[in-house]
Amino acid sequence: MTRRTMPAFEEQLESIADGLAEQQYAVTDHFLSDELTFQLLNRLQQIREEGELKKAGIGKHQQFQVDNTIRGDYIKWIDPGTAKQITQHFLEKMQAIKDYLNQTCFLGLKDYESHFAVYPPGTFYKRHADRFQQNPHRIISCVFYLNPGWTAQDGGILRLYLDEGQTKDIVPIAGRLACFRSEIEHEVLPAHKTRYSITGWMLDQIGSLTFL
Ligand code: OGA
Ligand code: MN
Repeated sequence: MTRRTMPAFEEQLESIADGLAEQQYAVTDHFLSDELTFQLLNRLQQIREEGELKKAGIGKHQQFQVDNTIRGDYIKWIDPGTAKQITQHFLEKMQAIKDYLNQTCFLGLKDYESHFAVYPPGTFYKRHADRFQQNPHRIISCVFYLNPGWTAQDGGILRLYLDEGQTKDIVPIAGRLACFRSEIEHEVLPAHKTRYSITGWMLDQIGSLTFL
């Protein structure tokens, strides 16, 4: 009988750095244990039940607007100062990735900021890049998925648009972390079930959230 062992965190860090360097993205399964991933899902469901999610918009500050034809998700920004223990644990792991990428890839990453996200059935996020003129400080995008038993038939696929017309589809299954360079265009295809995740960015400056 073969027993599946969880890859050591060190190995995960190495494969994230290699993936980002060689193909501009990296997909890591079992980034957190099933138990911890489930705790994060519960935390997000609690946030939702408490009415703390807000309709996500596009553009920052005065340019901010809600547009359901572009994105239909609901979010809550994570404030590291007040986050619950399970969220703190997740943040620590993301900081470790940031530090590792700085040591190995010299990306000059200074901060990590993130939000919980919920896509109700029928919602999507049209093709876009996370790094753009008004927001040039996002260097690496990371999405951690919280959906047990999710399959491609449930929709909500993250599609990356890579060089030379190639695409990479990523199913948002619980425990999976998708990292990619923030200038890569990507989209979230319509979800057929409620889709839960934590999306974050590694920045080349300290913070951009002035509205927490
Ligand atoms: C985003 C985004 C991808 C995903 O929030 O900017 O592209 O898979 N999310 O949730
Ligand atoms: Mn995006």
